[in-house]
This record gives sequence, structure tokens and C-alpha cells, in this order.
Amino acid sequence: MSVFNLYAAYYDLLYRDKDYAQETDYVAGLIAETSRPPRELLELGCGTGGHAVQFAERGIQVHGIDLSADMVQRASDRIGRARTALEALPSFEQGDVRSYRANRTFDAVVSLFHVASYQTSNADQDELFGTARAHLCAAGVFVFDFWYGPAVLTDRPRHVTKQAEDEHIEVSRETTPTMFVNDNCVDVRFDVHVRSKSDQRSQRIVENHRMRYLFLPEIEQRLGASRFRLLRAYAWMSRLPLSDRSWYGCVVAQAC
Ligand SMILES: C[S@@+](CC[C@H](N)C(=O)[O-])C[C@H]1O[C@@H](n2cnc3c(N)ncnc32)[C@H](O)[C@@H]1O
Repeated sequence: MSVFNLYAAYYDLLYRDKDYAQETDYVAGLIAETSRPPRELLELGCGTGGHAVQFAERGIQVHGIDLSADMVQRASDRIGRARTALEALPSFEQGDVRSYRANRTFDAVVSLFHVASYQTSNADQDELFGTARAHLCAAGVFVFDFWYGPAVLTDRPRHVTKQAEDEHIEVSRETTPTMFVNDNCVDVRFDVHVRSKSDQRSQRIVENHRMRYLFLPEIEQRLGASRFRLLRAYAWMSRLPLSDRSWYGCVVAQAC
């Protein structure tokens, strides 16, 4: 089972300050630098549809897939609530980014908020890129972000605590990382405490999210093996080059 099935219930609350609108403008801008503005877009690892709804508001129709049935359900619920305001209704489906095949192509493919880093083995990475390529015609654009190796090794992951609440619950999440430097991976242990405000009942959820940090030469080699050309690589949410200070990287690749 995907670790995200349990986590889904608290995901939107924990990330409610994440600026999906600004990120969507950024990604749409990256795509537009290379090709016509997309009309139909495949999102690999769509989560609860935070970007999909923003793309929809910009007239871009998203088909989103995610491993977690709960995430997909929450994405569909989000669209149900917003549907009258949307120009292009997104659709969602449970699926694995390593093996999913829609048997059709899209104008662009995106995979956002570290989905690529959730693919922790070499085979997983190749399969993710293979899935992206299978849904693009030649010259189609693929944009994804990832944990950038040089920055992760320079400024190593730390123990952090995050709190959030809404009118129903209080959530507190402790994050404890463990590095596996020979695998280019970090085990991120989430210890989540949730307290209901109405009856004071509480629940504890412990999850391990294994993340892979990536380096540009391996990304370029893997993209090439899947018939992509790496066009540009940036520090996330900027047009700055990657450096050992950019924890999150972003790549624009073109199908060839
Ligand atoms: C940090 S969340 C990002 C979700 C969404 N893109 C966002 O920006 O909110 C990572 C997502 O990747 C999904 N995921 C991880 N591995 C996957 C796989 N192999 N196939 C499909 N989804 C996957 C998880 O279920 C989760 O929803």
C-alpha cells in the first residue's frame, strides 16, 4: 500500500501554505518557452490535485494519476467543489508512474513536488521517464522537479517539526531523516500526531518516505536512454542555474 494512503487525510492541511498557483504559473511558463501552450497535460503523481485545479483555471486540461487511491479521491473531491469555476475539468485515476499507459499522447507531461525523487531505484527512474516519453510525441515537453544531490549533501536533511490546524483537527508532524549515502537516498520518517478538536481523541501515524537525490549527469543519461533531450535545469521556482544551495531542482526535457 502507498504510504500516502494514510497521509492523504492530513496532506492538504500540512501543505496549505504551498503556493500551487505560483508553481503552476512557473511550470506553464517553462513549457511555453519550448512549445505551444499545452491544451492537454498528463500529471504523473498528481496527489490531491493542487496543481491540476490551477492548470484547469488556466484552461489546461489535466489527466492526473497517483499511486494512492486516497489522494486520487481527494483530487476528485476538490474538483467536485471547484467545478463551476473551472475552464477545463481535470480527470484522475489511480496508477503507478512507473508502468501507467493511457495509450494516447498529451501536449506535455509534468511530475511535481518530488514525485521523481520518490522513484528510488535506477529501474524506477527509468520507468518514470519511460512513462513520460510514452505519452508524448516528438518535441513534446516533460517538466519535473527533484531533490538535487549536491545541495542535499552540502546542507544535509535535519530533524524538523511542523504544526497545522483547522476548525476540526490539530496536526503535529516530526520529520527525522536518515541518510543512505551509498544509495543516494534519505529515509524520511514522519511521525504524525492528530488530535480531534471536538472530542480530543488523538491518533498517531508513523510513515517512512524513502527519497532519492539526483545528480544532473545521471538525469541527462537516463533521459537520453528514454529518448529525451535535457534542455534546461534550474533551481526550483527560478531561472537560476542549479548549485549546491538548490535543494530542489527542476528539469525541462524534450522528447526526441
Ligand atoms: C509529495 S506528493 C506530491 C503530490 C502532488 N504532485 C503535489 O504537488 O501536491 C508525492 C506524490 O507522489 C505519489 N507517488 C509516489 N510514487 C508514485 C508512483 N510510483 N506512482 C504514482 N504516484 C506516486 C504519491 O502517492 C504522492 O501523491
